[in-house]
Amino acid sequence: MAGFVAILDFGAQYSQLIARRTRELGTYCEILPYDTPWSALAPRTPQAIVLTGGPESTLVPGAPGLDRAILRAGVPVLGICYGMQRIARDLGGELIKLDHAEYGPATLSVEAPASPLFANVPTQSRVWMSHGDSVVRLPNGFSALASTARCAVAAMGDVQHRIYGVQFHPEVVHTEHGRTIFANFLQRIAQVPADWEMGSFVERSIAEIRARAGDGKAICALSGGVDSTVAATLVARALGERLTCVFVDHGLLRKGEAEQVVEMLREIAHLNVRAVDARKRFLEALSGIEDPERKRVVIGHEFIRIFEAQARAIEGVRFLVQGTLYPDVIESKTPHSKAGHKIKSHHNVGGLPEEMHLELIEPLRMLFKDEVRALGRALGLPEKIVRRQPFPGPGLAVRVIGDVTEERLRILRDADAIVREEIDNAPLDPHPWQYFAVLTPVRSVGVMGDGRTYANLVAVRAITSEDGMTADWARLPPELLERISTRIVNEVPGVNRVAYDITSKPPATVEWE
Ligand code: XMP
Repeated sequence: MAGFVAILDFGAQYSQLIARRTRELGTYCEILPYDTPWSALAPRTPQAIVLTGGPESTLVPGAPGLDRAILRAGVPVLGICYGMQRIARDLGGELIKLDHAEYGPATLSVEAPASPLFANVPTQSRVWMSHGDSVVRLPNGFSALASTARCAVAAMGDVQHRIYGVQFHPEVVHTEHGRTIFANFLQRIAQVPADWEMGSFVERSIAEIRARAGDGKAICALSGGVDSTVAATLVARALGERLTCVFVDHGLLRKGEAEQVVEMLREIAHLNVRAVDARKRFLEALSGIEDPERKRVVIGHEFIRIFEAQARAIEGVRFLVQGTLYPDVIESKTPHSKAGHKIKSHHNVGGLPEEMHLELIEPLRMLFKDEVRALGRALGLPEKIVRRQPFPGPGLAVRVIGDVTEERLRILRDADAIVREEIDNAPLDPHPWQYFAVLTPVRSVGVMGDGRTYANLVAVRAITSEDGMTADWARLPPELLERISTRIVNEVPGVNRVAYDITSKPPATVEWE
């Protein structure tokens, strides 16, 4: 039987990290809503179930619960944070609300070193805690396996039924031996097979898409970015010519990009592409809009209208393919949870008008960027496509701060081309994850030749990151920064000053808008 782990999501920030750790251990998994009934899970024969953390407290009436049949199904269960508290409550244990929530690093003392959960884990190690409630009485059959100074039950287990709970977060890197603990649960305790790799993800996805789409037709919004290209290539493997890709040139792309992208999609990725020139339409719609959220909304709206028209032109289209990734999902909303704060409304997530009657196919919804790149390679896409930097759907509209005009787009494009060329050609290790120019609304005084200038300030942003969810500013060599600055000021009319952004995310975001 092929390995399958079900992750029931109570709305934690870290749910996808749990999925990622599972995949790193070579087992296929899916994140499912916390209230998925056992009757829906059972036919899929999960060999282990993980309950995630979540923002709620089990002590509050109406807190998210799970189908208790899951805890009696004989399948090994690991509850993390809220997941552990849920197990404790549902099986008759007791919890209290702490006077002060425990948040951040703590030292874990393993009290049951013989427990398979803590095999190869030292008796003292650093873990990451984040909780407001604590288990004070264990359910029958459970014993305490570990503690911290402030949490008497930092891990618990019922050996006979193979049900475990950890109050800390083994999935985050701040938990020193988190991977070992997680591997102990999946491999020693649950003995799930490690039989998953990208090749099998491709096969599984193709089979699922075929099963779902039947002989239906699909349409895909292609931006030329890694995500939509990989998603379209995968779906094209399943549906062939029944997938039509639409590339909308919204006029907010980087220098020379529109032409390159269309050629690349047709010639290299072998996709069936319709190119729509909508440059004028977007510029008009954006005219006079300075607020970044408004820009995203307007762009999203125009996009959707163009798709509607394209979809209508193809008879019998039933599906819309989107290259939505997990970080897009989590930053737009916390899945399966009412909690979670909107940070930026990435226009390519959701937003599809009901009346279009198109069903979404989002084959990358569970993946992180680097996993999408690996998938692209597994699909045989060249490095030129697979290594493209992330680029926001609303394009340069969110990098021209303030009013978006043709002239300001021209300035930004020229400055950005220099930033990219210089960084592309520099032998940097690690190579920044994303780098670009931002046109600020600031003008400042300068002197060029004998004359005073009063011109635009361009900011340069270069970051290192793994997934875009957190980022650090890249420590670029001063000589490189100097070359970038000198070239921009000399070669781009309208710019007389260049600044380098030295803020990480958080507290800043990657894009300025
Ligand atoms: P932020 O600015 O939210 O960016 O820290 C995180 C990553 O997402 C990209 N980004 C977007 N991508 N539509 C997209 O498709 C958007 O509206 C959008 N805004 C930001 C950003 O470039 C970075 O890689």
